Amino acid sequence: MSGAGTTSGGAVPTPEELERLAGEAEAAIAAAGDRAAWEAVRVHWAGARQGRLRELQALIPRAADRKMFGQAFNRLKSRVEAALEARDAELARAEIAARASEARVDVTLPGRRPPTGSLHPVTLVLAEIEEIFRGLGYSVAEGPEVEEDRFNFGLLNFPDDHPARDAQDTLFLEDGRLLRTHTSPVQVRTLLARRPPIRVICPGRVYRNDNDLRHSPMFHQVEGLCVAEGITVGDLKGTLEAFLTRLFASDTKVRLRPSYFPFTEPSCEVDISCQLCHGTGCPTCSGTGWMEILGAGMVDPRVLENCDLDPDRYSGFAFGLGLDRVAMNKWGIPNIRSLFESDERLLRQVRG
Ligand code: PHE
Repeated sequence: MSGAGTTSGGAVPTPEELERLAGEAEAAIAAAGDRAAWEAVRVHWAGARQGRLRELQALIPRAADRKMFGQAFNRLKSRVEAALEARDAELARAEIAARASEARVDVTLPGRRPPTGSLHPVTLVLAEIEEIFRGLGYSVAEGPEVEEDRFNFGLLNFPDDHPARDAQDTLFLEDGRLLRTHTSPVQVRTLLARRPPIRVICPGRVYRNDNDLRHSPMFHQVEGLCVAEGITVGDLKGTLEAFLTRLFASDTKVRLRPSYFPFTEPSCEVDISCQLCHGTGCPTCSGTGWMEILGAGMVDPRVLENCDLDPDRYSGFAFGLGLDRVAMNKWGIPNIRSLFESDERLLRQVRG
């Protein structure tokens, strides 16, 4: 096929030669096996600057019969373009088919596990505490978070000028109600609503105007209340020991220290032996070997009277503890705010 490959600058090809070139181009284009080969053959024939079609077009002015050469060139050009377009469509279809077969499900691959949620540390601690007290015959009682002064303070024997009522500690609403500062109002509500024997625990959110590493303006407490005939400090101590040696390590030691609450008499703070050093003293327990865990006491006779119960007949004990502190303790969480920031990493850590 002389001259076919040396058209530029050389002899002007005849219409028959252009016809043959068209066949050659069609064969080369049809043979392009993939995108890269198609692109190479396109540039070779139809490339805007140095493509063969460009070179041949440049020869038109030199042809002996320009009209005939021009027509033969146009036929060549449209055959090349049609061939490129057809091959392009074929390759596109093949690519789609290849992608579809790649996407086929391989049933032999191990499955992908959907991420599972987990319960919040405070929820876990509460569930454990509820379980322990259910075993001791207690039921769960709840009350409102927006409380009346008399339930949060008055009936609990807080004097009118008690500093806890101070706006610095208590968050008051405009209508005179307040956000409960402890779960003890549920103690009063229960005593007013039921007759002894009473055994309840009262979990819930409480609020105080307090905010630092160890304090959040919202936190969680559980209150415990037991009122019946003949309840003594011995019952309080035995119950707390049973409770705390289940919630914490079974060899945990419990100690009561005298304290004061308006609604209990006598009152005490309850410490457990440090869970980290087992009582020998470490930085977590400031070297004392003890950790303060809850407040407790015998229900003040005046609170019983306020709730229409005869203090000569009935007695009882109450205690309250912070759930968040227990959770921080159990999982070594140093900052209380981590509990309320909804950071999934914390949940993953608790799930272990
Ligand atoms: N209500 C007390 C507090 O919030 C805790 C407590 C409850 C103390 C019951 C004694 C008895 O600090």
